[in-house]
Amino acid sequence: MKVGIVYGESSTDYFTFIVDPKNMPNFGEFVVVKNRNGEEVLAVVKSVRNINWLMSTGRGSYDYIEKTVNVFSKGVLDKSESIIASAKVLGVLKTKEDIENGDFEFKQIPNRVPIKPGVEVRLARDDDLKKIFSNGHIRIGRLLARSSVEVGLDVNKLVSRHFAVLAVTGAGKSNTIAVLTKEIIDKTNGTVVILDPHGEYSTLSWRNARVNPIKASIDPSKVSIGELATLLGIAENAALQRRFLSLAYTTVMEEAKRSAKVLGGMSFVEAMENKIEEWIRTYENKEKGEEAFIEYYDSQGKSLQRKIQSRDLDSLIRLKDYLQELRRNFGEFIKLGNILSEIIPGMVNVIDLSGMEEDQMISLASYLLRGILNYRVKYMKAVRTKDSETLVRIGERFPALTKPLLLVIEEAHIFAPREGKTQASHWLGKIAREGRKFGIGLGIVSQRPKKLDDDILSQTNTKIILRLVEPHDQRYVQQASEQISEDLLMDIASLGIGEAVVVGYAISLPAMVRIYSFRDEFEGTYGGVDIDIVREWTGEEEEDEDIDLLDFAGE
Ligand SMILES: Nc1ncnc2c1ncn2[C@@H]1O[C@H](COP(=O)(O)OP(=O)(O)OP(=O)(O)O)[C@@H](O)[C@H]1O
Ligand SMILES: [Mg+2]
Repeated sequence: MKVGIVYGESSTDYFTFIVDPKNMPNFGEFVVVKNRNGEEVLAVVKSVRNINWLMSTGRGSYDYIEKTVNVFSKGVLDKSESIIASAKVLGVLKTKEDIENGDFEFKQIPNRVPIKPGVEVRLARDDDLKKIFSNGHIRIGRLLARSSVEVGLDVNKLVSRHFAVLAVTGAGKSNTIAVLTKEIIDKTNGTVVILDPHGEYSTLSWRNARVNPIKASIDPSKVSIGELATLLGIAENAALQRRFLSLAYTTVMEEAKRSAKVLGGMSFVEAMENKIEEWIRTYENKEKGEEAFIEYYDSQGKSLQRKIQSRDLDSLIRLKDYLQELRRNFGEFIKLGNILSEIIPGMVNVIDLSGMEEDQMISLASYLLRGILNYRVKYMKAVRTKDSETLVRIGERFPALTKPLLLVIEEAHIFAPREGKTQASHWLGKIAREGRKFGIGLGIVSQRPKKLDDDILSQTNTKIILRLVEPHDQRYVQQASEQISEDLLMDIASLGIGEAVVVGYAISLPAMVRIYSFRDEFEGTYGGVDIDIVREWTGEEEEDEDIDLLDFAGE
């Protein structure tokens, strides 16, 4: 359909056109024009302006304009009106009729020849847009400007090159993750692990869903000393407390080994508490004027002594308090065993972290990420060296790690803040940089992009950006992405709920997409429902609005 004629100045990457008022294209529509070489060029409408020459600004006072409107007949006014649109060139559309059997091809071939004024502008054909956007392994929604065209994503590129879902609260991040996850599980039999700080996915479900809910748990005897310190909430600079933590750790472990006792979960925490209590007493019970020595084992299992001074006592007492607090406030999360073993391949594994303090979430995340990366590296190495013993061992203990895996990190700014590294940000950074080689993909979700570690954000190639209003957040996201041009940035502020700008390797071309509603289009559930506050306060039932399925045409 013809929508206009190229008019005014044009270049290789922009042109303006005068619009046929009977066929006005919307903002964001895809159009095609011929360049000077006769090649078809695909472009997207970036602005549509309405101008009336009789009423241009500066042409007169209010009275003058009012007279103009009343005196001239409508026909004269209409004849002085024009609609001017500008469009951004995306690339050359190649119809390879002459080369192959008429197959159409679109590779973002840069347009190197200007568009000639006077040529006609047509709406891009549905079929062509489908060939560009409706491929890929999974579908996530429809083109905002053309609801007849489904948008697909290439899962290999999405997962291996990592992705980020960014938007203000309530814009549709979790809905997007639910859609992506369902599609990945259903279409590719993939393994997904979601770290869920607010328990938003505890009700995740859809038809024939494969969901494995995992209650967060941690065995403090299995984590590293650094992670244990974070778990306890010991400050980074509390060197003495950390030192004693480490001494107590190696000591109780060695003692358990010598007496052939199994130590883990709560029994480990209790053993630590007892050991520290014993050391405190050693100091308190010493005779006046005498020195107090504690006995400990180092990490090699060597028995050693250390003099305890009054300043040590302080740290020991604090340490004991921390252990007590952990047991009291966190007891429900302390469990023997390894959460890594609970991940099931071919499913979405939702690790519910709700109820934990942020430090504890970070500690668990760090343990989990470290384990996933380390065992994947070991597994891949064993595959290369045909080390069948290791392959079997890992396969039995951690079946999910024998296959690639996608990690989705909700509220990623908690785990990988921009200011100050956490135990978890170290491993997130490592996975962002090296995960591709070992088949570990990362999906970062955040409502505060500017609070996110920029190293990690810039390692995510595909970006799904829903409504993002804060200018600092927008700029920050733009800096972390090669593909977000100035005009896309403008688009991001204008998005509605569930509408996203999608850029990156996983999509053929940057596009504005209306993400499928997980509830309406996939009959799914997850926990992100907006609470009807007034209804809850008043206790009144409002009439259920009929859900309009719009133009959803099914599979
Ligand atoms: N694509 C969509 N189509 C229709 N409705 C949507 C879409 N995306 C989100 N919504 C609705 O908007 C509301 C908020 O969505 P969602 O929970 O995904 O937001 P969020 O960005 O994850 O918010 P938060 O930052 O608070 O976690 C939900 O009620 C959801 O049903
Ligand atoms: Mg959410």
